[in-house]
Amino acid sequence: MVPLLTLETRKSVLDQFSFKGRTVLVTGAAGQIGLMSAAGFAELGANVVLSDIGGMRDKVEGYAGQLTQAYGNRCIALTADVTDPDSVAALMEGTVQAFGTLHAVHSNAGLSFPDDDGDMPAETWEKTMAINAKGMLLVNQAASRVMREHGHGGAIVNTASMSAHIINRRRDRERYEVAYPASKAAVMHLTKALAADYLQFGIRVNSISPGYVYSTTHERSAQDKLDWYMDCTPMKRFATAEEMTGAVLFLASDLASYATGIDLRIDGGYTMW
Ligand SMILES: NC(=O)c1ccc[n+]([C@@H]2O[C@H](COP(=O)([O-])OP(=O)(O)OC[C@H]3O[C@@H](n4cnc5c(N)ncnc54)[C@H](O)[C@@H]3O)[C@@H](O)[C@H]2O)c1
Repeated sequence: MVPLLTLETRKSVLDQFSFKGRTVLVTGAAGQIGLMSAAGFAELGANVVLSDIGGMRDKVEGYAGQLTQAYGNRCIALTADVTDPDSVAALMEGTVQAFGTLHAVHSNAGLSFPDDDGDMPAETWEKTMAINAKGMLLVNQAASRVMREHGHGGAIVNTASMSAHIINRRRDRERYEVAYPASKAAVMHLTKALAADYLQFGIRVNSISPGYVYSTTHERSAQDKLDWYMDCTPMKRFATAEEMTGAVLFLASDLASYATGIDLRIDGGYTMW
């Protein structure tokens, strides 16, 4: 049994929320949610690896430079395709080369395709699953290998979606997404299965499930579609990407030391009914 705590023996919450001296990797870091969590980790003292697909190199390099300047600790950019095991392995090698090890990961790269519905071509299913589900597995596996080899455990936070829990409402006669919600349900269950398996190595694995977060894809959407999304959300608005950051930082931090295999829904109430 552990001794009961007193005010003298309790740990500081600020210390437990600090990432000073830690290395954190964020995938999908050129996107809104990934960039905000990378900035949050940097602000809390971490050395951050901002990773995204090759075409986003300039963006992530720019962001890494800005964060290094703002917070003093080092942030670097490494590009990788999360669907490619060699590319993910090279990402881990680059991270270890730069910072010696890896303590936490926000595995966040993911997307959906416009022709995703019940009549989608098989390639749409395959592409969605490759990025959202297989990519998540590859990053979790490769990160956990580094953590195990270096003998210090760690924390992984995966980005699932409220679509892992429900099927997003559509207006009359509109088609429903099929591959995307299936892929995100896979992320959530993969998170639980890996949490069980990696527990023995001191690695916690959790997920977040965002609702509608205003991001680059929404900038190109018609206003009536955006209005519908807001209308279906009890809070009647989009989230900003930084409203996801607290959950990611919490789950990756020592404040969440007893949390593994859980999913935090941050969806403006969408899934409560
Ligand atoms: N925005 C939302 O409403 C919302 C809601 C729920 C879940 N999510 C999830 O949140 C995560 C981040 O989304 P976002 O809103 O910031 O969108 P975003 O499109 O801005 O970011 C996603 C990033 O993933 C990267 N990416 C895509 N394929 C990749 C690959 N093969 N390898 C490496 N990187 C790749 C993209 O380049 C992009 O920068 C995604 O997993 C998404 O499914 C978003």
